[in-house]
Amino acid sequence: MQLWKGRFKKELSKTTNDFNSSISFDSRMYKEDIEGSIAHATMLGRCGIISTDSANDIVKGLNGILADIENGKLKIDPDAEDIHTFIEGELTKRIGENGKRLHTSRSRNDQVAVDIKLYLKKEVVNVKNLVLDLIKVIAGKAEEYSDTVMPGYTHLQRAQPITFGHHLLAYGEMLLRDISRLEDCLKRMDEMPLGSCALAGTTYPIDRTITAELLGFERITNNSLDGVSDRDYCIEFASTLSIIMVHLSRFSEEIIMWCSWEFKFIELDDAFSTGSSIMPQKKNPDIAELVRGKSGRVFGDTMTLLTVMKGIALAYNKDMQEDKEAIFDAVDTVKMCLTAFTPMLDTMKVLPKNMRKAAAGGFINATDCADWLTKNGVPFRDAYKATGELVARCIELGTDLENLPIEEYKAVCEVFNEDVYKAISLEKCVSQRTAFGGPAPELVKAQAKRVAQLTIK
Ligand code: ARG
Repeated sequence: MQLWKGRFKKELSKTTNDFNSSISFDSRMYKEDIEGSIAHATMLGRCGIISTDSANDIVKGLNGILADIENGKLKIDPDAEDIHTFIEGELTKRIGENGKRLHTSRSRNDQVAVDIKLYLKKEVVNVKNLVLDLIKVIAGKAEEYSDTVMPGYTHLQRAQPITFGHHLLAYGEMLLRDISRLEDCLKRMDEMPLGSCALAGTTYPIDRTITAELLGFERITNNSLDGVSDRDYCIEFASTLSIIMVHLSRFSEEIIMWCSWEFKFIELDDAFSTGSSIMPQKKNPDIAELVRGKSGRVFGDTMTLLTVMKGIALAYNKDMQEDKEAIFDAVDTVKMCLTAFTPMLDTMKVLPKNMRKAAAGGFINATDCADWLTKNGVPFRDAYKATGELVARCIELGTDLENLPIEEYKAVCEVFNEDVYKAISLEKCVSQRTAFGGPAPELVKAQAKRVAQLTIK
């Protein structure tokens, strides 16, 4: 059954109906649709646009539909045009005449906009809570491994010594920015479009602030054309979700490397790993790989939304029905990824000895050696060059800076003395990096505490 029958003489063809219908993906908004309709009917009653009796009748009928969908008595018709049509049709079936009064001073254009906003407002909070759970796990591990020395990398080459806690907290910072982006996105989304009607508002004496208040919106939209044609909130949410996926994907990539035999910095719990059907020795980080892979879907969803919206004239166009599958898929995917990723991280075994061993190779204390010379009066550029020569000498002799005899040091630069060995011990290299934001264990501990505090809900 279509709501727009009057003008048409022929039935819609089955293929057109299937092509046009959005019920398969918008039925998940049944609750928000009913919530929006209850608020709308209540407002119509309060403003005297329909009688209070009619309004009460509609609200009762809608509550009955909600209950019956939830207890399974009412099945959503897969052939209906959309969830809005289905619920209005069912209401009229149940309460008759008054059901036909519900759509007074409303269009599906402002109805669908309010439904999506109500739905997404909840999802922003759900995603935010999942991100906070992950940050909490990160902060806990960062504190536990605040003095675990590991190599820090640039170009995937060992660069300078850091601590594992410090490395983890870098992800904590990224995810905290995601939290602030989600909060921001929610602020802008919190604008109620009902009353925009089809595009040009209405001649009925409605009071939009009543509907906004009943539905828990902070503000009402200021322009009726914008109210029905805006999908910035979908694009903004999808973009935020995409950035979250960039972070999860980078983290996954590191986890995948860290559990390879080449690194062996961590071992994932059996419950979060999979095996191979042919190679008996294998333990694969499939969860991390899937998270990395699923980032592609979420970026694709964002691109879908941008492309759908970029060329459509104001106000509503049917193209906009394509918004829902994209944003729902992005939300579902990110929630699924976070739900799998957080316990995987929480249960992983950290292998500090292997991290320490890796830190001992690759001359990651070379900067500290040059810095020692500089602190003893040698200009940094000269100190840099001298240390480079020492590294070359170590490679020639098959040794490292810690074990290179002092005579070799002196041969390159006579300022060197035995004290240099203290300055280049890896633990010293890390503990002396006390400039704010650095990897010194004390700083990492304090940062871990700060970050943990921020996850309190
Ligand atoms: N199913 C439609 C959507 O999701 C609802 C709005 C329909 N409005 C219209 N004028 N056809 O966008």
